[in-house]
Amino acid sequence: MTRSLRARLFIGLTSIVILTGAIGATFAYLWAYDEAIEIQDSVLIQVGAFALGAPFKENQAVNGVDVDSEIGVVELGNAPRGPADMRRLWVLQDGLHNDSYQGQAVRVLLRTRPDGSRLAVTQSSEIRTELAGNMALRTLLPIAALVPCLMLVIAIVIARSLGPMVRLADELDGRRADDMRLLATEGAPSELQPFLASINGLLARVYAMVDQQRHFIADAAHELRTPITALSLQAENLDSVDMSVAARERVNALKRGMRRTRQLLEQLLVLARQQSGLSDKTERVFLDRVAKGVVADLWEDAAVKDVELGFTVADEVEVDGNSFALTSAIRNVVENAIKFSPDGGTVDLGVTREGAMAVVQIEDSGPGIPPADIDRIFEPFFRGSQPSGEGSGLGLSIARRAIDQAGGVIEIENIIGRDRSGLRVTIKLQAARVEASQARAACNESLP
Ligand SMILES: Nc1ncnc2c1ncn2[C@@H]1O[C@H](COP(=O)(O)OP(=O)(O)O)[C@@H](O)[C@H]1O
Ligand SMILES: [Mg+2]
Repeated sequence: MTRSLRARLFIGLTSIVILTGAIGATFAYLWAYDEAIEIQDSVLIQVGAFALGAPFKENQAVNGVDVDSEIGVVELGNAPRGPADMRRLWVLQDGLHNDSYQGQAVRVLLRTRPDGSRLAVTQSSEIRTELAGNMALRTLLPIAALVPCLMLVIAIVIARSLGPMVRLADELDGRRADDMRLLATEGAPSELQPFLASINGLLARVYAMVDQQRHFIADAAHELRTPITALSLQAENLDSVDMSVAARERVNALKRGMRRTRQLLEQLLVLARQQSGLSDKTERVFLDRVAKGVVADLWEDAAVKDVELGFTVADEVEVDGNSFALTSAIRNVVENAIKFSPDGGTVDLGVTREGAMAVVQIEDSGPGIPPADIDRIFEPFFRGSQPSGEGSGLGLSIARRAIDQAGGVIEIENIIGRDRSGLRVTIKLQAARVEASQARAACNESLP
């Protein structure tokens, strides 16, 4: 049995229609056939009554009767005479009989005139069944036309009735994994209400669970931050203490480890903050200023590696978004670009306005991302199939989330040139509509 409800309903209902249609058609056919035979008998009787009045000549046409119905009148005379056929008919009683005449099966009506002369009205049995069959078949036409119409109507009704279910499935399929909005129950058919209620209950429970986990991460990261900071300070204090070279190396390793832990905690806090909706607030953000701020912050990190960090272009563009979230997005991408660029490499930023879009592009001179990793690169904690250097794998997922929330897209592509390699990250956001007065002011400012 098929698993599709639609198919089951359709097959079930159309089977019923076809079955009832077939039964109805059979009875209609049989009745109509009998009726047609009776009508033909009554025609014979009428022709007989008419022929009683005047003797018929040999081969005289029976006026008023369809030629195709092949009705003929045979004068049999006062006593059996002529061919054997006629003599045999003469001895039959008055009334209707099935017999044969001139080598053909016939229906025959015998009548006797007051003067004792007899006549026979004959009709070929073959013609009779053919005519009756044709008449009966004609009664089937409406049924034959009705069945396909009914099937069509059934298909339409089923499709329309199950429409809400299909739409519901589509809606759920199209949802992002973190979209926990409850399903609308208004207007949904009553049969679907229990499902909707169950799904909504499940969504609410999942949301509560996810929320609990978010809080746990945020609390844990927050709680860990203080002791780690304290430990870092203690390690800093060791700088002024006299110790052997070997001990100094250990301390330095310890400090590096603590710095990594602090960075991870910071990332976790940003993530928790994003997820808790704290960075949902939208405001007017100057994207170029955000990018410049990030570059200023990371300039020292770049200098340590002798990486040339700068802008190729920095147009003034505004977007509507959360400045904290957008800053962390750009910062994470630029951090990666510096981290994965070789010593002495370059990291170029470009902020431009392309039509209605604000575009930030970050290009580095590192190795790029292996094509096999590109699809998973935005997953939290994914650090590539061959992780190298420090990192938590949270940076790009934080960036993607922030850009998603601002209604933009972030795209990654490897730069493949003859004499260069690297990664190009492109962030596209809807540019904010600049008020006319503001635009004029900006215009005046730029005039000499
Ligand atoms: N500019 C880049 N060049 C090469 N690989 C990159 C670059 N940016 C990101 N990646 C790859 O993507 C992974 C995930 O990046 P990210 O989410 O920022 O985590 P993390 O930087 O903490 O490792 C990195 O581990 C690295 O393998
Ligand atoms: Mg990173």
